[in-house]
Amino acid sequence: MSSSSRGRSNLVIVANRLPVRYSPNGDAGEWLTSPGGLVSALTAVLRECEGLWIGWAGTAGHEPPPKDYEGIPLRAVEINAEEYENFYLGFSNATLWPLYHDAIRYPEFHRQWWHAYEEVNRRYAAAAAEAAAEGAMVWVHDYQLQLVPGMLRALRPDLRIGFFLHIPFPATELFTQMPWRRQILEGILGADLIGFQVHSAALNFSRVARRLTSAQSHGMPLQLVYEGRSVQVGAFPISIDSARIVETAAEPAIRSRAKEIRAELGDPELVLLGVDRLDYTKGIRQRIKAVSELHADGYFVAGRDVMVQIAVPSRESDPHYDEARKELEQSVSEANGDQGLVGRPIIHYLHQNVDFDELVALYLAADIMLVTPFRDGMNLVAKEYVMSRTDLSGRLVLSEFAGAAIELRDAFLVNPHDLEHVKEAIRTAKEVSEKEARSRMARMRRRILRRTVYDWANSFLAALAAPHDETPDVVDNGYSGA
Ligand code: G6P
Repeated sequence: MSSSSRGRSNLVIVANRLPVRYSPNGDAGEWLTSPGGLVSALTAVLRECEGLWIGWAGTAGHEPPPKDYEGIPLRAVEINAEEYENFYLGFSNATLWPLYHDAIRYPEFHRQWWHAYEEVNRRYAAAAAEAAAEGAMVWVHDYQLQLVPGMLRALRPDLRIGFFLHIPFPATELFTQMPWRRQILEGILGADLIGFQVHSAALNFSRVARRLTSAQSHGMPLQLVYEGRSVQVGAFPISIDSARIVETAAEPAIRSRAKEIRAELGDPELVLLGVDRLDYTKGIRQRIKAVSELHADGYFVAGRDVMVQIAVPSRESDPHYDEARKELEQSVSEANGDQGLVGRPIIHYLHQNVDFDELVALYLAADIMLVTPFRDGMNLVAKEYVMSRTDLSGRLVLSEFAGAAIELRDAFLVNPHDLEHVKEAIRTAKEVSEKEARSRMARMRRRILRRTVYDWANSFLAALAAPHDETPDVVDNGYSGA
């Protein structure tokens, strides 16, 4: 594949954010690679196809973003201060985010936010229409841009359009609270291929789409027909850059940093670790409470058993996140106040960004990793921890409600709402025989190694490129146009 002669691209990625983020570094700020495996996976594919990336450069008032990243042209979409409030903090993160995560915080519905969401989605669609070559593939990402596929199709019916939702898609009962539910479904249905992290999310989408729009199925719920087009729906579970984790975990400097971390913690017998964006969906407080109670029960001993919790700053201008941070920090200080000793806190808490090398060293330093979100599309921390344990040591406690639990059945699975269950899983993870722990870890590693993030990107794009069947025979879904 090559770029068209008019400078338009045959592959366009449309994501809320560009693959670079601005880091204020004293007076001289700099643009760094955005964290996460997604950027490296898509960068590799884009470089191969001479593709282009459309996204937002981050909060206003910075230097303009670079024109390209590792040879990939970047097109920045502008979001002004009012749109930042209404589109980003509002509709994206205070309406969609809580609603799609089981409404664990009350989703707010405001017409003004919705109008900003439409407006900004239209801008992304226009940018994609402008950048894509004739018949190009355009891959739209995540909940911030659900209207883009439909808007883009209206502008450029020649394109192959894919949409991938990185977060959960809720059950009908929740989704139907959304006042603009039909518009959102129709927006997504503008795509030829719609991907979700897990099969149940794909089914949730298909069910509600058939109920509320004119989409029909021909007996197979993941193959829809909408406005005379065939629309494929499917699960494409995202993965990690396994080779990079394995290589980093093998570096002598990282291994000695892991030892140093344990020494800095006072050479405890047991190190528990949590690493999350500071988000109310992640169940961090409940996890702290479970560990604190295990100390109160006399099962853990201060100094001997230690927990490290990294909470990466996120969406800090959103009052829900500010509140979640205050609650979490109060829980940490209560736990340490009640159960710690001088010089021996039971929880070591950092509210900081951690670079990749330090993150891998932390994984290596941890005997038990705690990943206990109330709901999570996938959760890549769980997969990264497993991949870093090249010697098969380490134990993973994982929420049933993380997408990763579908693949990582050999973790110690918990219901994070059930505190007794979380405590029991931590005890079991600690006490299970070395032999059993190693064979669980080996099975999980094999499972992750089957599909890296490169396979994920390639399989989605291959499915998008594949010719679609003729319009299949349809079974009436009873849609009345209401
Ligand atoms: C989740 C979402 C991403 C989002 C990221 C960070 O992983 O699925 O779309 O970019 O959180 O959140 P932020 O609001 O800082 O982009």
